[in-house]
Amino acid sequence: MNNLFPFQTKVSLAERELMLKQKPKLIWLTGLSGSGKSTISVQLEYQLHAMGFKTYLLDGDNIRTGLNKDLNFSNEGRSENIRRIAEVSKLMMDAGIVVIAAFISPFKADRNRVKHIVGQSNYIEVFVNCPVEVCEQRDVKGLYKKARAGEIKDFTGISSPYEIPQNPDIRIESDIQSLEESLHLLLDLIVPKISFT
Ligand code: PPS
Repeated sequence: MNNLFPFQTKVSLAERELMLKQKPKLIWLTGLSGSGKSTISVQLEYQLHAMGFKTYLLDGDNIRTGLNKDLNFSNEGRSENIRRIAEVSKLMMDAGIVVIAAFISPFKADRNRVKHIVGQSNYIEVFVNCPVEVCEQRDVKGLYKKARAGEIKDFTGISSPYEIPQNPDIRIESDIQSLEESLHLLLDLIVPKISFT
């Protein structure tokens, strides 16, 4: 960190918020593979966009085929994945965008670091809960089958841990609640927080 001199731009965040008429936040969805993170986040972004909010969605499979394609699924790989996403989210929020991020993010320490990087008051944690048996039964991508067959190592919920969030801002039970119901609850929580007053 030596010999670096970060500087202040002439356009402030307050000015960007005024122009975009919104308060940027990071909406962080965490949960097992197949729990419904992507489905919920895609619809959430679609609805917020339709309401006039400027949003951007970051998702595991998309980021891992681009920005983070050099990272694996070891504990270290996952930590670095989440750290980079947090920094990217911070930049986007600094530009005034409402960011939705859907990542397994299995480790509590990594999620805490995200909160620290973007600031506690900017972080909204959504725990998309679904029993691993249900995720495995859904097996939309066929990954659980491969993990059981030993073709994928370090697979979350099978051969790599998922640490359950103790204090999420909201918990969605995706095996019980409908998509519509979940979206309704999320919008009720999020819209007041991102609305410009
Ligand atoms: S993490 O743990 O937050 O770094 O993972 P993430 O960046 O969200 O990437 C999860 C997607 O990667 C695919 N995949 C795996 N997931 C878990 N464990 C292993 N070993 C693995 N290998 C590949 C999988 O498609 C995940 O997508 P989702 O949407 O969660 O099903």
